[in-house]
Amino acid sequence: MKEPINLSGDMNRLLPAEALQIISQASTSAERLGFRVFLVGGVVRDILLERNGFDLDLAVEGDAIELARSLSADRARITVHHRFNTARVGFDSYHLDIARTRCETYTRPGSLPTVRPGTIEDDLGRRDFTVNAMALSLNRDDYGNLIDRHDGRGDLEAGLIRVLHAASFTDDATRLWRAIRYEQRFGFAIEPHTLEIFRRDINRIVDITPDRQRYELECVLSEARPETVFSRADELGLLNRWHPALSGDEWLKQSCRRLRAIQAATPSAYLALLCWRLDAEQKDSLARTLKLSRRQYRVLQESTVIRDSLSLLDSSQAPPSRIASLLRSLDTDVLSAARAALEPGRSVENIEQYLATWSRVTPVLNGENLLELGVPRGPDIGRLLEELRDLTIDGAIDSRQAEEHHVRDWLTRRGLS
Ligand code: CTP
Repeated sequence: MKEPINLSGDMNRLLPAEALQIISQASTSAERLGFRVFLVGGVVRDILLERNGFDLDLAVEGDAIELARSLSADRARITVHHRFNTARVGFDSYHLDIARTRCETYTRPGSLPTVRPGTIEDDLGRRDFTVNAMALSLNRDDYGNLIDRHDGRGDLEAGLIRVLHAASFTDDATRLWRAIRYEQRFGFAIEPHTLEIFRRDINRIVDITPDRQRYELECVLSEARPETVFSRADELGLLNRWHPALSGDEWLKQSCRRLRAIQAATPSAYLALLCWRLDAEQKDSLARTLKLSRRQYRVLQESTVIRDSLSLLDSSQAPPSRIASLLRSLDTDVLSAARAALEPGRSVENIEQYLATWSRVTPVLNGENLLELGVPRGPDIGRLLEELRDLTIDGAIDSRQAEEHHVRDWLTRRGLS
């Protein structure tokens, strides 16, 4: 028999102290309850890759909810799902997800699986890729031993994303997106046979509910370089299942890189770039397909506003206050996306000028001062303050005296002085 690989040293070296503390507590509690417990999924893969970004997922051969409750006396910190026997325990800067080890059977493609308790081996056998199907024992007799029935470690070394069995994508077609995401994140390759069944099963993505597909989109948008995932998904024919007008081409790659260069990379800004070249109708259709959230939909709509306002943004004649008033109504992520998407020129300069100065301009006078000058209480106060701000942005006034002068003029015109 092969000597087991023990990773307790790597765990101690790579996991933050708080995570180790939580793991050790879980290990002791599980032993007391007579359960065997394991660290599973991405964290094991990331320890082997010496990467950080650790989600703590535990699998327990026993009652996950009981284990969660033994870890925290504070019920408010525990969320449980009785149906799947899973629990989440919140700690100071971590949360721990605990699930009972289980077998899964898929009754219908795309549906959620039927679940029954199983062993750790069953639990690993239902997972997506070999690199995600490893566990580390947290039990005293073999603490830190790697359980790796599917040679995930070999695939990590070879840089391969490989399914465990040929029905993997039909069981759960979200794995089509996951395969590309891991491939691109780690600079790996989808293993040839996996790629073959990927192509065979690509249409199964239609089995997935809009909510689950949107979740996949959100996962991609949270990657460090989402454009690489979109580009590969485009090449493999997956991206156009969301909308035929989407493209992961060179333009998208360059725009996403520019977004990072201006240190404005956020999921929403990446979403705006992905959809930048779609027209309003195409965006509506994508929003329906993926049931985008209100915020996501707003980002798309506001990008259309920018595209429709390019003649104003590009104008050398328009008063800066007019440009500022347009940009003030838009989400900062949309402005970032515009800076990355538009060719360098006046529009981009105007947006940058807005962000650096115009957006920060406030009049010297405040509402109180206007009342003291004799402006009646009511909506005119707000309007006048905006007027003063706009005049300042346009460089028409630049001091307290000039503002007071403007207010006195206004009072005279109204017969109020
Ligand atoms: N998993 C799976 N099939 C899916 C989703 C998840 O088999 N469709 C399994 C994988 O074993 C995965 C684990 O559940 O490792 C946890 O899933 P998730 O949190 O999405 O991924 P992580 O592996 O933690 O990776 P990431 O770094 O992307 O969060």
